[in-house]
Amino acid sequence: MITQLLILVNLFATFSLLPATATNQFCEAGIDYGESGCQISSSSSKILIKGGTVVNSHHQEVADVYVEDGLIIAVQPNIKVGDDVIVLDATGKYVMPGGIDPHTHLDMEFMGTQTIDDFFSGQAAALAGGTTMHIDFVIPVDGSLTAGLKLYKQKAQKSCMDYGFHMAITKWDEVVSKEMDLMVKEEGINSFKFFMLYKGSFMINDELLIEGFKKCKSLGALPMVHAENGDAVFEGQKRMIELGITGPEGHALSRPPLLEGEATARAIRLARFVNTPLYVVHVMSIDAMEEVAKARKSGQRVIGEPVVSGLILNDSVLWDPDFSIASKHVPLVICFIFVPSNYQYVMSPPIRAAGHAKALQGALSSGVLQLVGTDHCTFSSTQKAFGIDDFRKIPNGVNGLEERMHLVWDTMVESGQISASDYVRITSTECAKIFNIYPRKGAILPGSDADIIILNPNASFTISAKLHQYRTDTNVYEGVTGKGKVEVTIAGGKIVWKNGELKAFPGSGKYVEMPPFSYVFDGIEKADSNYLSSLQAPVKRSRSST
Ligand code: URP
Ligand code: ZN
Ligand code: ZN
Repeated sequence: MITQLLILVNLFATFSLLPATATNQFCEAGIDYGESGCQISSSSSKILIKGGTVVNSHHQEVADVYVEDGLIIAVQPNIKVGDDVIVLDATGKYVMPGGIDPHTHLDMEFMGTQTIDDFFSGQAAALAGGTTMHIDFVIPVDGSLTAGLKLYKQKAQKSCMDYGFHMAITKWDEVVSKEMDLMVKEEGINSFKFFMLYKGSFMINDELLIEGFKKCKSLGALPMVHAENGDAVFEGQKRMIELGITGPEGHALSRPPLLEGEATARAIRLARFVNTPLYVVHVMSIDAMEEVAKARKSGQRVIGEPVVSGLILNDSVLWDPDFSIASKHVPLVICFIFVPSNYQYVMSPPIRAAGHAKALQGALSSGVLQLVGTDHCTFSSTQKAFGIDDFRKIPNGVNGLEERMHLVWDTMVESGQISASDYVRITSTECAKIFNIYPRKGAILPGSDADIIILNPNASFTISAKLHQYRTDTNVYEGVTGKGKVEVTIAGGKIVWKNGELKAFPGSGKYVEMPPFSYVFDGIEKADSNYLSSLQAPVKRSRSST
């Protein structure tokens, strides 16, 4: 009964908190679509960004950037233009490639519900935060990649920024193997994700992992793993329930870092056995990070992706007995109603104890980890309340798409841990390189797509569910403030975010095909032939005739 009451109240809270982006919600509803309010911005397609510090991952310089018809045309000092060009003054500010988020889940069916942010609301929020492209995970339908892709193509029709797809592999047979060929050769997908947990739904076993890795390697596609030991997590969950621990702290307790470390080590060793590059998504613990570090030190091609939540948060919130934190952000009339606020922090692998985040930051600044994602996967507090009596039913996932660029700047650059060029590398360029779309994306160079941000290092930002562009009614970074504000976002050559005003148009985002055999595959065949010639086998034996 209490559960039902909470759900009803939260439902009300969710709708009362929908962000006030009237034009966008209007467009999204299909009203007036394609006509006055909803068509692609009619503002000039010629933009000059004057006098900023242009930052690439390899170099920075004070220069102007001239944009026309969606492309960067020139990067040099003192560019002269005519009256038909919009001029943006970037003096004292950084002009950088728009962020690319390698890890999101928009409009995903998961744990008996659907993520609340879709390809429009999630992307609109991303643009407001300086991210201009993301790569989302297609989930197969009953194991079928083709059916999964068809569904995600429909979901993505409302896109307002560029996007690409990874594909999850949830079962193995000849059909799936052939579909992987199709995905790579005809659909522009060059990465496949294997979930080593979520027993009973997405989880795959080691046999599938080995088959999948072999297939990926043959296609020049990058295998990715969610590395937690699914059988042990299942056991850990049972143990917590038997102990009467049903709240969100049970989520963290049931899957300690050692289970992430074990699965990361196993995936890395199997990738080494197959001799394929490997991408480990959402590295959340010291245990997993150290496995990545060890492998890289030995020369293995392993890419480690921390996510913003893992770099910033710690798990103390999960022990908070206060059910009413989120209600502080909802209208006064329902302020006294209980909302299970700390359920919003439940994600997998879990947010770890204090100490892990700092270690992950260090690994990022020293190059042990290579790029930052978000694993953006949002649910309303109503949806999170599905697990009010049992943490195993709390839909897993947190926000991050809108906050990533700000939080990484503040945590890593403002604190002096990395340079502005490193910031560009870990938020944009490295992702473009790994997924083989550089320098079209991830660079401010003539010929690159005009996906650009202007960041003011002296302005500050504040994060709140009252201000964010998402549909969800909570924000795991509620109340966080910091320095370095994205004042302008240009996506596909259009100004989509300026002076706190968002102009995002459904249908304006493009699907970005990603070809196979990115740089992480360079030289793999040489290592294979060295291995073969080192085998000293088969030994020629002759039967004796005595
Ligand atoms: O909690 C999470 N991470 N939700 C999204 C699905 C996944 O495992 O990446
Ligand atoms: Zn995952
Ligand atoms: Zn994920």
